Amino acid sequence: MSPQALIDRLDSLEKAFADEIAPLSSEQDIRAAQARFLGKKGAVSEVMKQMGKLAPEDRKAVGQVANRVKASVEGEVARKLGELDEAARAADLSREVDVTLPGRARPRGHDHLLSQVRRDCVAIFTELGFDVAEGPQVETDWHNFEALGTGKDHPARDMQDTFYVGPDLVLRTHTSPVQIRTMLAEAPPIKIVAPGVVYRRDDDATHSPMFTQLEGLLVDREVRFSDLKGVLVHFVRRFFGQELDIRLRPSYFPFVEPGAEVDMQCAFCRRGDSGCRVCKGTGWVEIGGAGMVDPVVFEHVGYDPEAWTGFAFGMGPDRMAMLRHGVGDIKLLYDADLRFLRQF
Ligand code: DAH
Repeated sequence: MSPQALIDRLDSLEKAFADEIAPLSSEQDIRAAQARFLGKKGAVSEVMKQMGKLAPEDRKAVGQVANRVKASVEGEVARKLGELDEAARAADLSREVDVTLPGRARPRGHDHLLSQVRRDCVAIFTELGFDVAEGPQVETDWHNFEALGTGKDHPARDMQDTFYVGPDLVLRTHTSPVQIRTMLAEAPPIKIVAPGVVYRRDDDATHSPMFTQLEGLLVDREVRFSDLKGVLVHFVRRFFGQELDIRLRPSYFPFVEPGAEVDMQCAFCRRGDSGCRVCKGTGWVEIGGAGMVDPVVFEHVGYDPEAWTGFAFGMGPDRMAMLRHGVGDIKLLYDADLRFLRQF
């Protein structure tokens, strides 16, 4: 081909390219068109391959046109891509957002029934000015038993089937050792509740080897048994939202004197219907123990038993949960079965 023919060919390729990419609207298509013209086997490259056969002075003239055409194709590509970018940004900005559409709902979990009950119980006492105290679950024999008036050969040790983890270490059998730890750490007056898990070698429909307790302790001057009863009645009525009564039956715990077992009126039948499964027709359900702090306990923690008086109580939030929601088997509280737990 003559030099002029090559130049004409290049000029026509330039126009052809402009026509070809004008209607394109994707980067992929534009890059493909670019390759068809400038790629190794592209139309422009094919023309340039023929330049080798030209005389040097002609080669220069054709080369200049070829370079111009290449630059023009690349310029067109850049311009076209810029346009696409701009159009995409504009589309994005003018997109209509309906702010009245409902949001995407995310599945929401909730607290375990026992956590709810523990929180409700604690809240009733913090309203009354009680602080929350805690203690370790692996406890010394001394805190769990001795300091609470239960020496090594005390017959009351048999009341609780204990898991021993060492010669003088136990899994705490009750939350009462938190009374001891609190009194050792602080001077009276004291007003605390201590929620937590405890362990006993017990396992049936109403007993789990791990269960929860809520301990209470109030130490001050001239505390009376009626103060204890008032606090417990208030608690039961607030927790169950009914005008239920409580009754205190004389009982023995080594760390209180006098001691009592706490019953509340059956939240289901209230009167003791013969068919009531919850109270078995008696009208009363046991919810814990309580009493006036035994002077022997004060002596163990270095409080003057002549100067200080107090009451203590221990309740079972598991029991509370079962009573409030009519749950028949304590295992359900610890099995982590979502079909059960989702109901609360
Ligand atoms: N610690 C006792 C138990 O687990 C319950 C108890 C009874 C706690 C009387 C007390 C109390 O604080 O005064 O069986």
